[in-house]
Amino acid sequence: MSKVAKLEIEGKIYELPIVEGSEGEKAVDISQLRQQSGYITLDDGYGNTGSCKSAITFIDGEKGILRYRGIPIEDLAEKASFVETAYLIIFGHLPNSAELNRFSDLLTQNEMLHEDLKFHFEGFPPNAHPMAILSAMINASSCFHQRILGPYDDEVFELQAARLISKVRTIAAFAFRKSRGLPIIYPKPVYKYTANFLHMMFSQPFQDYELKPEIVRALDLIFLLHADHEQNCSTATVRMIASSKANLFASAAGAVCAIWGPLHGGANMEVVQMLEEIHRGGDDGSRFIAAAKDKKSGHKLMGFGHRVYRNYDPRAKIIKAQCDQLLAVLKRTDPLLDIAKKLEEAALHDSYFIERKLYPNVDFYSGIIMRAIGIPLEMFTVMFAIGRMPGWIANYKEIMEGQGSRIYRPRQIYVGPTRQSYQPLADRK
Ligand code: SDX
Repeated sequence: MSKVAKLEIEGKIYELPIVEGSEGEKAVDISQLRQQSGYITLDDGYGNTGSCKSAITFIDGEKGILRYRGIPIEDLAEKASFVETAYLIIFGHLPNSAELNRFSDLLTQNEMLHEDLKFHFEGFPPNAHPMAILSAMINASSCFHQRILGPYDDEVFELQAARLISKVRTIAAFAFRKSRGLPIIYPKPVYKYTANFLHMMFSQPFQDYELKPEIVRALDLIFLLHADHEQNCSTATVRMIASSKANLFASAAGAVCAIWGPLHGGANMEVVQMLEEIHRGGDDGSRFIAAAKDKKSGHKLMGFGHRVYRNYDPRAKIIKAQCDQLLAVLKRTDPLLDIAKKLEEAALHDSYFIERKLYPNVDFYSGIIMRAIGIPLEMFTVMFAIGRMPGWIANYKEIMEGQGSRIYRPRQIYVGPTRQSYQPLADRK
């Protein structure tokens, strides 16, 4: 017998179905509540709202567990590549070697941008933010692939997904070169995904960038760890846009804008700016902790806290270990890593953070790896967006394949003025 919840409103009992997920998560299905009772539910920021059923990513925020299609993030981080993980997330299973070769070939075949897109890059001012360029150019590039503007088509979806994953890295590298006034470096088909990106970022027309395997692997890992994270702000944006049956490129361009914000993907930049400020000032970071605890300051401890995790973000654990490993291999030190560790230690012993279960999130240590790789600060959030592309695409696919899925359209409780009469201009003060 299916379970129900009972809700009493004004003396009347309503029975609401209980929905259970495959990992035992429970929800009360309120989709018929308004029809039956005239009431809606109110949930500011959707903190307690399940907007969909999804089979892509599982998070247990209390235990600090993250799995893509059932596979723990720790296993993927140790054994898989970003491209393999992207395939897993989008198509639901790890690719066999034929599938992986086919998908990798599609990525290679689609690495170039249409030559006319170069003129679009020329239109941006020299110091344009690369996230603005990224979003604009994803949309602009859709104009060169008319088929993707039509209705969702399962037949061409693999090609579209590969096209987007491949081109986003070319756009990102071109945006960086443009912002620095450097000549554009075209991709090289012999390189794999992440090596090719580093080549486009850092080679010169007269000299190829020296690809160090540790650096390629570290950036590949960063992409992999960012590849999906269930219904975060940017992914929910993809689903919102896709629910109107907009195309994949339009949905991804919107998601880039959502991830840009400092409370979401933009936090990786802000963390490093905070660590740099602490370093410059020679203090111990207590000023930032004090400001984060003071609600009136309007500041948060960047890279700390999470809507879902009430435990250490498992990605942050992996990235922190990778920071130590990469710096050791490169025989380098970074004073910001020491500052970050001390700041973490101080916060984790502070009652404000303990009571609220605030731990480092994915953005706390990722910037330190990106600095070691040589990625400039303004490109940090772009790295997050490149990594997140498979998650956005997989969520887009779920929406498009959803049986009877409806357009996303939340309701509201109106709190504005009640009916007013129109005042002619002459009578207004
Ligand atoms: C990402 O959703 C995802 O999955 C996102 C992400 C992904 O992969 O897609 O994981 C990537 O966006 C990581 C988050 C990056 N942002 C930051 O690091 C910015 C700093 N963090 C916070 O602003 C905040 O923790 C958020 C935005 C991440 C989450 O905000 P919530 O869910 O609204 O916070 P909460 O309800 O858990 O907060 C509980 C309490 C509140 O205080 P009280 O009102 O109870 O007194 O903790 C406080 C918050 O004010 N709090 C913080 C804090 N984070 C939460 N106080 C100080 N510093 C912080 N960082």
